[in-house]
Amino acid sequence: MTTEEQIKSLRKELDFHNYQYYVLSNPTISDFEFDEKMALLKKLEDENPEFFDPASPTQRVGNDLTAGFEQVEHKYPMLSLGNTYSEADITDFYNRVKKGLDGEDFELVCELKYDGTSISLTYVDGVLQRAVTRGDGQKGDDVTANVKTIRCIPLKLHGDYPKEFEMRGEILMPWKVFDALNAEREANDEPLFANPRNAASGTLKMQNSAQVAKRKLDSYLYFMLGDNLPFQTHYECLEAAKSYGFKISDAIRKCKSLSDVYDFINYWDTERKNLPVATDGIVIKVNSFAQQRKLGYTAKSPRWAIAYKFQAERACTRLIAVTYQVGRTGVITPVANLEPVQLSGTVVKRATLHNADIIESLDLHTDDMVYVEKGGEIIPKITGVDMNQRTMFAEKVRFIDVCPECGTPLKRVEGEAAHYCPNEDGCPPQIKGKIEHFVSRKAMNIDGLGPEIIDLLYSNKLIGSIADLYTLKIQDIAFLSGLGEKSGKKILQGIRNSADVPFERVLFALGIRYVGETVAKKLAQTLCSIDKIAEATVEELTAIDEIGESIANSVYKYFREPKHTELIEKLKSYGLKMEVDLSKKENSSNKLGGKTFVVSGVFENFSRDSIKETIELNGGKISSSISSKTDYVVAGENMGPAKKEKAEKLGVAVIDEQTFIKMIEG
Ligand code: IVH
Repeated sequence: MTTEEQIKSLRKELDFHNYQYYVLSNPTISDFEFDEKMALLKKLEDENPEFFDPASPTQRVGNDLTAGFEQVEHKYPMLSLGNTYSEADITDFYNRVKKGLDGEDFELVCELKYDGTSISLTYVDGVLQRAVTRGDGQKGDDVTANVKTIRCIPLKLHGDYPKEFEMRGEILMPWKVFDALNAEREANDEPLFANPRNAASGTLKMQNSAQVAKRKLDSYLYFMLGDNLPFQTHYECLEAAKSYGFKISDAIRKCKSLSDVYDFINYWDTERKNLPVATDGIVIKVNSFAQQRKLGYTAKSPRWAIAYKFQAERACTRLIAVTYQVGRTGVITPVANLEPVQLSGTVVKRATLHNADIIESLDLHTDDMVYVEKGGEIIPKITGVDMNQRTMFAEKVRFIDVCPECGTPLKRVEGEAAHYCPNEDGCPPQIKGKIEHFVSRKAMNIDGLGPEIIDLLYSNKLIGSIADLYTLKIQDIAFLSGLGEKSGKKILQGIRNSADVPFERVLFALGIRYVGETVAKKLAQTLCSIDKIAEATVEELTAIDEIGESIANSVYKYFREPKHTELIEKLKSYGLKMEVDLSKKENSSNKLGGKTFVVSGVFENFSRDSIKETIELNGGKISSSISSKTDYVVAGENMGPAKKEKAEKLGVAVIDEQTFIKMIEG
């Protein structure tokens, strides 16, 4: 086989496995084999640049080129749909269609309305040419490089596809990815995304496609457009699109009557809660293209289709006050305090207002009656104000100018929504927040030092920074508010033990902006010591896989501040690990290479952290939940029955601690 043939055959094979995995959710090779083939292809392509192909599966990892987005005119404008909220509205739509078609028989197609951000994909000769956002409907942003990283979007089609056409659909961030992303942002004190839709559109607009690739976006396609397409109906089109390799939802139904439509709605109104992605309604389309043409368009939307929006669970209650929270990096979050109200099974007293722009767009006034919704999101949000109930003396809610905790004038970074308090070293919640983060489980894991104790120590001026933890004395802690000697000793022991915490966690514990657990690990593994990290230039930092511009800048800036270098010197002198443990590196192997483990229960020879560390040291990956991608569940004492059942159902091997030890020793 020539090199060119080998490259082509690898591309074909990887495309096939991509499709099996991301479109059909039915992988037929292990992740490890997949990664190996990908690495080989990448190597061959790097060595033989003359065979470059923009549609190669290697292009899906993205790159660090920051490119402003080019504006592109849509060949066919991207319209929106009329919204309806009741069965009566749907009956009206049905009757309008019937009338428009002079009483002809017609079929409707019902689909789920996916709640993401819409995209238009152009394919020429079966190759993805361009991906453009909706923009204003007439022209949008060319986000091709970012979209290529979405694994279920085919770069090359198979079968008998039309020469040139557009495929439209929705880019989505699955709930799981969204939750994990927000958890990470919360840990880094970055502003949270309000919902998966915002997270998906924010991700699509990121400047660095390598970062986009990590966000694991998904998509469903639902609409094909082109000149002289060889199809008579929408349903046929979707079936054909499926055969070309597009991800088309299975939740699509041809309906002959209104009662079929209602059945579809009623079924999905509850069933949608089990889907991995967000949906906010149903789209109803006339199936026949001839009939679509006959019905035509209004200025804004087609007459042959309509959206029905599911009723979000909503309550109306009074706004008592807006208060402001200061996070550990100084970000200010406005919070609406509400008269308690029942909403989908819980009592809601508070709702996040995210930032000043949200308050402004709601035109919030004091004492307003506000609508609260829980659209599947964890934190309830305010979606509107009942203007009819606004009192005469209501005053506009104005975002604060100074920090509510320390009085420092707030700042806002150009282009960012959040305000923050710049008084890092003098603002109590920032100081306490940094200490809380430092001692937290995933950081230094110092037991017994909860927020109340930290508050107590801080307000008694016993600690003013994380370094002060290491000079605490038993008499300082024990006699504070009845803690007693025993608990005091335990805390001190915990502080002393933190000298054993591996460097990567010390690095995470420092609370450098944007340096979450994963980034800390990456930095530690690549540069090996705090001194090397401190010396690294922005270019050197961005050269590290997974480290983008903003992380690199933040790390660089952190180490340029004398107070930070002083802090690190102090921590060094207290014996904290400031470099990776090389003896551990020697203990490492690739015996578990490419295998994914879930750890459950309690172990004899390991703590939960140390068993995970051992797995990673030996090349294995850790996952928090069992799926078809899991290779082994390591079961300790007291593994939950639900996990056991799930592992059995998916045919995942469950091994005990001894077997695990043999695996790494043998
Ligand atoms: S069809 C001309 N089908 O909802 C009609 N749209 O306002 C083209 N959407 O902008 C849209 N799921 O972003 C269609 N199954 C689906 C959809 C869907 C979500 C979005 C789309 C569109 C908006 C309608």
